[in-house]
Amino acid sequence: MHLTDAERAMRDGERGPAVARAMDLLIRYGEALGAERLIEVTNVAGTWSSTTPWVQAGLDRPDDFATIFSRFNLDSDETVEMPPAVVPTCQLIHGIDTRNWQLQGFTADQAALQRRSEAHFGRRGVQWMSTCTPYQVGNTPLKGEHCAWMESSAVVWINAVIGARSNVEGRESTGAAAITGRIPLFGLHIAENRRASHRVRVECPPETMMDWGLLGYAVGEMVMEEIPVLAGIAARPRPIFLKHFGAAAASSGGVEMYHIPGITAEAQSEAEALGGRAPAHDHVYSPAERRRAWENLQSASDDAVDFVMLGCPHNSAEQMIEIARLLDGRRISPNTRLWVHTPRQIRALCDDGGITAAIEAAGARVMSDSCPAINRALPPGTRVVATDSAKQAHYLPAIAGVQVWFGSLEHCIDAALTGRWRGGP
Ligand code: F3S
Repeated sequence: MHLTDAERAMRDGERGPAVARAMDLLIRYGEALGAERLIEVTNVAGTWSSTTPWVQAGLDRPDDFATIFSRFNLDSDETVEMPPAVVPTCQLIHGIDTRNWQLQGFTADQAALQRRSEAHFGRRGVQWMSTCTPYQVGNTPLKGEHCAWMESSAVVWINAVIGARSNVEGRESTGAAAITGRIPLFGLHIAENRRASHRVRVECPPETMMDWGLLGYAVGEMVMEEIPVLAGIAARPRPIFLKHFGAAAASSGGVEMYHIPGITAEAQSEAEALGGRAPAHDHVYSPAERRRAWENLQSASDDAVDFVMLGCPHNSAEQMIEIARLLDGRRISPNTRLWVHTPRQIRALCDDGGITAAIEAAGARVMSDSCPAINRALPPGTRVVATDSAKQAHYLPAIAGVQVWFGSLEHCIDAALTGRWRGGP
């Protein structure tokens, strides 16, 4: 791999042992990918949390942050301290809500450890946004900006909606990128790899958030890890619809980039999305595909719902306001729990604006920093879940061994209020 003088110096230890380990990791990673060189990144989103379950499982001394950083962020047996991040770096979602840890089944010691780890890595430049949607709370890279981000739903957002460039990275590569400002040049960092190869003709245009989740789920199954262009979308969607579309497509397939001509960042026309070539594959999304996606997302048969999960990906402020409005001062069923997930910064905004109080007055809880698919924490005894998220409906049955109903926000709120699932396609 070609290295610049500065990169060679970093590899050789000029900026200390941690940066040398990081460069070694990036070079090995890049060579495995066939990358010819590294590129400079200016925005990193990864995880440095000490209370994510797989970190906890591997720890003898949970306060040993140097070992945590070395082992989990640099894949290094040599213990090195994290030096300051050299580019803007944020923490994604992690394992524990530092306010609602008891509800999630964590101990006071684990919550305190999380706070100490936030202070430790925060002093080294990690911004504790603690969400899978950092783009909702201020981390919005520019079009064309090279980034190193984990979290598939966030990566597909910045690639498609903003036009920034990132592959779906891992904890180790983002750990190395934060302290070197480098990542291998491959995949979606290269302009010609960002063109669509699949065209999806949308014959039943989505109108609601549920529609967009179903479309994303179907498109992911059609194209898997390839890049689609959607033809036939005339109405401009709300941003939250694209958030759900991308998360669903990244779950059922591995979609990291898509185009909607005139709406997403890099194509004004179908021809531009396809780079002037004919699509290698043509698909149709008709009412039959929509129905099939809906059926594929239902894993429940029992209509008695004991847990309603909202906020996957984490809710925006407008979604939180909508939930408070739909609850309309009523109490949820005594047989059901309702957890509403939002970034901690939006929770603060909702605290100040009376939205948290309105939601929690119904008997629901506003949660941050994590989600059941990440930390496997559901209310004790949960058997049947309802959610408005195709991504959560996709993962929860396997992760938590529960049945899941997928449906509209309105049907989920109805399930929380009545304890019964009465939704449909
Ligand atoms: Fe975010 Fe968890 Fe969903 S990470 S996208 S809330 S599965």
